[in-house]
Amino acid sequence: MAIADLRREYNLTDLRRGDLDPNPVAQFNRWFEQATSARASGRIRKLCVTIYKAFLAFFGAETPEVNAMTLATTDKNGHPSARVVLLKGVDDRGFIFFTNYDSRKGHELADNPFAALVFYWSDLERQVCIAGDVAKLPEAESEAYFESRPRGSRIAAWASRQSEVVRDRTELEQKWQLLETQYPGEQVPKPPFWGGYILSPTRIEFWQGRPNRLHDRFRYTRQPDKSWKIERLSP
Ligand SMILES: Cc1cc2nc3c(=O)[nH]c(=O)nc-3n(C[C@H](O)[C@H](O)[C@H](O)COP(=O)(O)O)c2cc1C
Repeated sequence: MAIADLRREYNLTDLRRGDLDPNPVAQFNRWFEQATSARASGRIRKLCVTIYKAFLAFFGAETPEVNAMTLATTDKNGHPSARVVLLKGVDDRGFIFFTNYDSRKGHELADNPFAALVFYWSDLERQVCIAGDVAKLPEAESEAYFESRPRGSRIAAWASRQSEVVRDRTELEQKWQLLETQYPGEQVPKPPFWGGYILSPTRIEFWQGRPNRLHDRFRYTRQPDKSWKIERLSP
């Protein structure tokens, strides 16, 4: 089938102003919970989600990683780059993710501490687009999260000079093995160049796919008094 012929009609549910929480983070949490457990409220939605999950399970497909999000950053010339990272927390401050501070994204965030995030939950025909200011997470929080990671991942954080050119896979694996002998026990300290960021949203859009591409879109924009303005956008 030609790529141009790939087409999907969205008809699972709608999104109305009355459905929205005045606080976009609370609205995000509601959608995230539904994406995680596909906890449906409407009977039709529930039936669709149940059928879809059964279909996935039958064909041995994995449940999608609902906390995977596209993170877009820009360099000092305004040139963008994007990649997928995992959301590791949301609170009143914003959206938390972890990475290597010396990676390409780390350098870009140091030059321009603004970024955008996109979640796409295809089974719910939903997208959430977020933009805001980014700051490093306090070191103690990065330490605490690092300690909770599996040992192999903690060693890999030391082994990988993320985003730099590596000669071959062998070089990478040798480095990992060397570090494994250096840290034989459970104690693997957090590298100083690894940690979290928090994106404090100034704009969050909730998108629900609808038939005939007449999608429902609502944008929250943070106001100077910290309240949120909600507007419906044309699809
Ligand atoms: C599903 C998925 C989850 C990922 N999660 C992370 C993550 O949480 N942190 C991270 O640094 N990279 C993560 N990556 C790898 C990034 O996409 C990317 O390759 C890496 O961070 C280097 O990006 P950069 O060179 O643009 O800085 C993930 C990739 C995928 C596909």
